[in-house]
Amino acid sequence: MKHAYPFAQARMMVPLLNKPYNGQPLIYLDNAATTHKPQAVIDAISSFYTDAYGTTGRGLYRLAEQATSAYEAARGTVAHFLGAQHADEIVFTHGATESINMVAYAWAASQLAQGDTIVISALEHHANLLVWQQIAAQTGAQLLIIPILPDGTLNMQQAEQLITKHTKLVALCHISNLLGTPVEVKALADLAHQVGAKILVDASQSVPHGGVNVQELDCDMLVFSGHKIMGPTGIGICYLKHSLHDQLQPYQRGGGMVYSAAYQTATWREMPYRLEAGTPPVAQAIGLAAALNFFSTQLDVQAVHAHEAALTKQLIHGLQRIPGIQILGPVDELCTRGHLVSFVCSGIHAHDVAAYLSMHNICVRAGHHCAQPLAQMLGVLASVRVSFYWYNTADEVDFLLAVLTRLMTENTALYSKLP
Ligand SMILES: Cc1ncc(COP(=O)(O)O)c(C=O)c1O
Repeated sequence: MKHAYPFAQARMMVPLLNKPYNGQPLIYLDNAATTHKPQAVIDAISSFYTDAYGTTGRGLYRLAEQATSAYEAARGTVAHFLGAQHADEIVFTHGATESINMVAYAWAASQLAQGDTIVISALEHHANLLVWQQIAAQTGAQLLIIPILPDGTLNMQQAEQLITKHTKLVALCHISNLLGTPVEVKALADLAHQVGAKILVDASQSVPHGGVNVQELDCDMLVFSGHKIMGPTGIGICYLKHSLHDQLQPYQRGGGMVYSAAYQTATWREMPYRLEAGTPPVAQAIGLAAALNFFSTQLDVQAVHAHEAALTKQLIHGLQRIPGIQILGPVDELCTRGHLVSFVCSGIHAHDVAAYLSMHNICVRAGHHCAQPLAQMLGVLASVRVSFYWYNTADEVDFLLAVLTRLMTENTALYSKLP
């Protein structure tokens, strides 16, 4: 039996989901890539530009002061949402990718040396892999990869062996964007801290679903992108624990981050401004704060997790009944606490599956999902990924399953006619 849809009222507040797209209802199942925006987010950005636009920091007139207060209030909202102790632990960036690059160049580049190790996992998105290759090459440190078990979960025994007294940084995703695998970040933070290493959590796929608390995870750094949690594009977060602040070097140099400058020398402002050079993304920060407020006031975290897991289970059970579909990842775990499912359809390229679904107004992602080494290791260079958010419904899953069943049946019939 299908469970009752708990978010009917909140879904009404997301305009793009409530009007025809191409003349049909939009079935949006690419939420791991980006999410749709509630009217409250659109209004917050629009009224900033319409009624109170200004930039932060420097102006002494009212509009500039208002913009500064709104920007700093947004920082406070993010800190509260993540359970951070101080607002100055929150740095605004352009997205998760920039946040990880910032940690690499503002912290790792000056802290790592020959003989040190950086430990990541086989599950990482390119955003949490490529920059560590570069830092390893630049500092002489070694990049080590925690492998996964056949079911797609992290090999914790190997993790214990790879995290040693040589490790300076453990950088891991909280949830894999390809397999949906949740990573036991707290246990890995304990391992990292036992050897004096820092831990960075790429929470791009967990923060959007709520309930992430930096103190409970005991992480030193945590990153995510605003657009994946109903906020605008062009805004990301880097949480940097207070105890790290003395080790942070400016990442970019320019206005806003400088305390005093002469022609040959300069000194830097305190955190978080030291890492926010240039005119900041004020409208984006205001939009992100509106998105987090929407989450906190309209949604219940437990209900979001339960609803998304129920949709995931419904999808997995349906896919298991369609001949020729192979599901990737830890299926049992996804049924209890997942929100995305990747799969391959025998005889049909993932891009063709996505294009066929698109003809029915269903949006899914297909490809290597920016995790090429993982895709290669799984022997599945391209897969189809369905990713849910709180606003998806059981009827949408039924429709997707019906279209996929038709596709697989038609494809089998076509092949059987070939000479
Ligand atoms: C796990 C993970 N990390 C990092 C990113 C990069 O996010 P952005 O492109 O918004 O910087 C993504 C985006 O898909 C992701 O899923």
